[in-house]
Amino acid sequence: MKYLNNSFLIEHVKAEYLAKKFGTPIYCYSYKKLKMNIIKFKNNFKSFNPLVCFSVKSNTNVNLLREIRKLGCGADVVSIGELMKALKAGVNTKKIVFSGVGKTTKELNYAINKNILLINAESKSEIIEIEKIAKSKKKIVNIGIRLNPNTDAKTINKISTGKKEDKFGLTEKTFIELVKYTKNSKYINLKCLSIHIGSQILNNLSYEKMLKVIDKVVKKSNHKFEYVDLGGGIGIAYNNKTKKFNYKKYSISISKFLKNHNSKIIFEPGRSIIGDTGILISKVIYIKKTKSKDFIILDSGMNDLMRPALYGVNHRIIPVIKKGGSSKKTYEFVGPICESTDKFLTSKNFQKLKEKDLIIICDVGAYGMSLSSNYNVRPNPVEILIKESKINIVKKRQKLIDLI
Ligand code: LLP
Repeated sequence: MKYLNNSFLIEHVKAEYLAKKFGTPIYCYSYKKLKMNIIKFKNNFKSFNPLVCFSVKSNTNVNLLREIRKLGCGADVVSIGELMKALKAGVNTKKIVFSGVGKTTKELNYAINKNILLINAESKSEIIEIEKIAKSKKKIVNIGIRLNPNTDAKTINKISTGKKEDKFGLTEKTFIELVKYTKNSKYINLKCLSIHIGSQILNNLSYEKMLKVIDKVVKKSNHKFEYVDLGGGIGIAYNNKTKKFNYKKYSISISKFLKNHNSKIIFEPGRSIIGDTGILISKVIYIKKTKSKDFIILDSGMNDLMRPALYGVNHRIIPVIKKGGSSKKTYEFVGPICESTDKFLTSKNFQKLKEKDLIIICDVGAYGMSLSSNYNVRPNPVEILIKESKINIVKKRQKLIDLI
């Protein structure tokens, strides 16, 4: 993704062309970027050859999931719906892990019938429920237990999951009790310790602390874990000022851990695989000038991209057609939704815009479309995957009539 003669390209296709042909807003992804991200991710950890289970919640588009599967990934799912999508995308059941604090009996039943690799349980009640279902089916079910390491991921507070006050996982004490419990169970085979301390993590220290806790707990529990599932969480640079995550350091820490533990590592990355592969192309509907600032009112809103409204985070905004030399302005980019939080970014020094101009909101591949809604009765945007010059509609724009 880059500018050529001041016009923004996704691989060989102009963003401007897509907007003309399909209307706006458009979620648009680059296949090449996706492929490179997966190759790079695997390369970073090749010394221990982990199983990479793409976190489906970050992007649930079945056609994209199919590409991700073809590039060698499994799937991390958190609901029957995500599991069904992973299966529809052809993901091998032996590469699917099921996480989440509130799996229902129906969901567990379905997952057990499909013989997926692991159900990562998060409470004693859930383990008892799995045991009950397994017994009724006369099956032995492979599970993991999620540990809450009480470590701080040093990320956005709202997406931190590994502190003791968070609902996720089990304390060290309960974890060890449950390891003992499963030893006496005829229907449960405890294969995995799973963990996930949060998302958009850029600080290696958080993972190092997490690994120390896992090391201690595994030793204490005196159990041979075939798998250690380290979850996802690796952050990406949403702007040029952010320091990139140090993969090499993380890989070395894990290799050190593996010297004492003979387990297969599982990762559940979402954002680091798909985050920077996607953009949202939007059009300026109106420009509203006020004394203090100019509002750029876009045709995409917080229903299309919720992250800024939900977490107060920024996504870069860039023009589809770059104009050199024009005077710079301070703009507040907002959507059309009737909420004051429907605001994407305040940008100083933006090139002068006019109504009907096109802009791009960057790095929306993860938790962009998957968090979108029909709030204000607004249909979901079309999703397009670009492969060189080829334009693939991976999901059609939702029809207004289907919402009425
Ligand atoms: N595994 C588990 C158990 C998770 O809960 C998550 C994300 C992942 C893996 C993938 O994490 P990732 O590699 O994508 O960081 N909506 C928020 C992010 C919420 C993440 C929830 N769990 C956002 O837009 O920033």
